[in-house]
Amino acid sequence: MQNLNTEAAVRERYAAGARMTETKLCCPVEYNSDYLKVIPEEVIQRDYGCGDPTRYLREGDTVLDLGSGTGKICFIAAQVVGPQGKIIGVDMTDEMLEVARRNAPVVAQRIGYGNVEFRKGRIQDLALDLEKLDAQLRKHPINDAASYLRAGEVMRELRLKEPLVATDSIDVVVSNCVLNLVEPKSKRQLFEEIFRVLKKGGRAVISDITSDEEVPEHLQNDPELWSGCISGALTEEGFLGAFSEAGFYGIQVLRRDKKPWQTVEGIEFRSLTVEAFKGKQGPCFERNQAVIYRGPFREILDDDNHRMERGVRYAVCDKTYNLYRKEPYRAFFEFVDPRDEIPLKEAKPFDCSRTARRHPKETKGYDYVVTTEASTCRDGGACC
Ligand SMILES: C[S@@+](CC[C@H](N)C(=O)[O-])C[C@H]1O[C@@H](n2cnc3c(N)ncnc32)[C@H](O)[C@@H]1O
Repeated sequence: MQNLNTEAAVRERYAAGARMTETKLCCPVEYNSDYLKVIPEEVIQRDYGCGDPTRYLREGDTVLDLGSGTGKICFIAAQVVGPQGKIIGVDMTDEMLEVARRNAPVVAQRIGYGNVEFRKGRIQDLALDLEKLDAQLRKHPINDAASYLRAGEVMRELRLKEPLVATDSIDVVVSNCVLNLVEPKSKRQLFEEIFRVLKKGGRAVISDITSDEEVPEHLQNDPELWSGCISGALTEEGFLGAFSEAGFYGIQVLRRDKKPWQTVEGIEFRSLTVEAFKGKQGPCFERNQAVIYRGPFREILDDDNHRMERGVRYAVCDKTYNLYRKEPYRAFFEFVDPRDEIPLKEAKPFDCSRTARRHPKETKGYDYVVTTEASTCRDGGACC
């Protein structure tokens, strides 16, 4: 059983890391140097990331950076998303927030707009605004059982009425080398929180340190290794599985470092960048649509347990049809629309628990008996 107070160890280590560069926490990452030019040296020096999720952002995105540290990822993201986009950095360490907030106006002045803000919170509890809680506790300090119970009530109210990050409000959640630092008992809640704050159709792009084997207990109880992004690492398999358990779909490894960042007692710790989408939940309706998996694999299984063979025409509900038409699936499918469209408000429920073939007559209509001449060939030559 793990018996270390991991959060205290992490806070202490990163408070020190905000004041002075901690070389042991640095992992070599190649960022786009154009974006670094406007970022003050103090921020660049206190870079404790292990990947670059900002490569996968788009103009106009609203982005949440979990464990934003001194703000480097937020300041790069600010330039990628442009003035129409917005960046929120969340960190629990006052010293990190102080450096990030002090440098935000400098970056804003250099790029010509300010679209970054930093908020204080724990990433496994993104509803609780720790600065608002600090203010309440200054007014009503905890000094007996009654005030302790009242504080619990204040926290509930704050989460509900003034959440740090609102539900369904974010296009992309990014994070760089932080999720491993969250205590094991809160890891599940952490992934649920990422899911909660994302809009339907939003995605997470997370870089983190992962291990190729389970981390044994004696390493988990080492405060130096814990705060050093080693002991709290999920296995590569566990990391992907955590997204799946939280309800994400289309989960994929965007980057896996070949060379381990560190090896401890034979266990390899390396950076992984993973993308995962929110939005497969919801009702299923029959609109006579079909999809054909193009290959190259003989068959595939999606996150809703649809198993599909290459080249076969399958019946799918309207929701699955529309999910497949977007990233990350789009390139893998052919889409067959029905000849007569069924308006959504007239569509009947579709049973998504089974995967059934769709006969071409279902999409064309059983009364379809047309015979046509051969189509004109594009280059004036014969088609066959
Ligand atoms: C390894 S550093 C990474 C900082 C930053 N992402 C970067 O790329 O430089 C980890 C950061 O996460 C913060 N942190 C760790 N655990 C946290 C938690 N549970 N909630 C909020 N912030 C946390 C620390 O204060 C620290 O700033």
